[in-house]
Amino acid sequence: MIILTIESTCDETAAAVIASGPHVLGAAVATQTELHARFQGVVPEVAARAHVQRILPVIDEAIRQADIDPADLDAIAVANTPGLAGSLMVGLTAAKTLAVAWNKPLVAVNHLQAHIYACQMSDPGEIYPCVGLIVSGGHTSLYACHSATELDYLGGTIDDAAGEAFDKVGAMLGLPFPGGPSVSRAAAAGNPKAHDFPRSLVGEDHLNFSFSGLKTAVRYCLVGPGKQDFSQLDLSEQQLADLCASFEQAVVDCLVAKSRQAIRQTGFSKLCVGGGVAANGRLRAALAEAADRDGFGLVIAPPDLCTDNAVMGAVALEQIERHGYADLDVDIHPGLQRGY
Ligand code: KG4
Ligand code: ZN
Repeated sequence: MIILTIESTCDETAAAVIASGPHVLGAAVATQTELHARFQGVVPEVAARAHVQRILPVIDEAIRQADIDPADLDAIAVANTPGLAGSLMVGLTAAKTLAVAWNKPLVAVNHLQAHIYACQMSDPGEIYPCVGLIVSGGHTSLYACHSATELDYLGGTIDDAAGEAFDKVGAMLGLPFPGGPSVSRAAAAGNPKAHDFPRSLVGEDHLNFSFSGLKTAVRYCLVGPGKQDFSQLDLSEQQLADLCASFEQAVVDCLVAKSRQAIRQTGFSKLCVGGGVAANGRLRAALAEAADRDGFGLVIAPPDLCTDNAVMGAVALEQIERHGYADLDVDIHPGLQRGY
């Protein structure tokens, strides 16, 4: 089987051509970072309009790389949930149009299932069943993943997502958007013990996260309660590095603690991690250490498949096998899936 996968849930326009295996035959991503940078966050209407401009060139590029004819495709897959409404609309409309024009069946993919499936794409052998940790700009959630398409929610953030906290701290510090990679870069030379930031909800007997208090703690450390002005920050390079490292360590400690707890609670022997924040070096190292210590298997998606991409849409092959194709009137299901 050869399928085309389309991803446009947030601010990346992506397409891939995947053969059963799964093997990647072609893959293209157009990022929108430069469009959203001046707002320090993704603006939904800007994202949707950019998807409209980019989606056909990106699909063309994936098909060109694969060196196939559209007639060779067996299905068109597209992520239709969760995500930004306008962004999802563009991907789904493109997929439906091509399905009709090329007379191919349509597959609707869940973007969160795809983020975990990104781990499968590094060819580690069968990854299911596993505990799945998704750490992205919108989601920080733990799932009992019985198979690629059967995920039971175990817990997740009750306020900010981990990536959102990175992005907001980056914005407070005036670092380039998105905050995740820039805070992480600044943290490299810092002392993670310089500030004792909170590890909210760690030690409690549930699997929820909270990062809003941590973000506020960083804010108070910078300007103090009641003050608003971030424009006059006068941090030395070392102070900036220490602050970023201490913040990053606090996020990592929470993610590692709850992941270990989820493994204990479910009795599963494997942890699979996906989503943009899973590209974070400190998190990858800390999870590897925890896996060694506790004796569970660990698969983290390859860094280029952590942030949004269409290669992870290969989960569509599993979707077809288990649940078949989607009807042409399938709709988008926007918003966050935080499970409560
Ligand atoms: O999965 P993703 O591309 O999009 C969503 O589905 O949300 O994740 C984007 C998020 C952003 O918040 C970004 O700052 C964060 O992932 N991120 C990182 C790193 N790279 C991306 N956070 C921490 N460290 C990184 N290296
Ligand atoms: Zn995502």
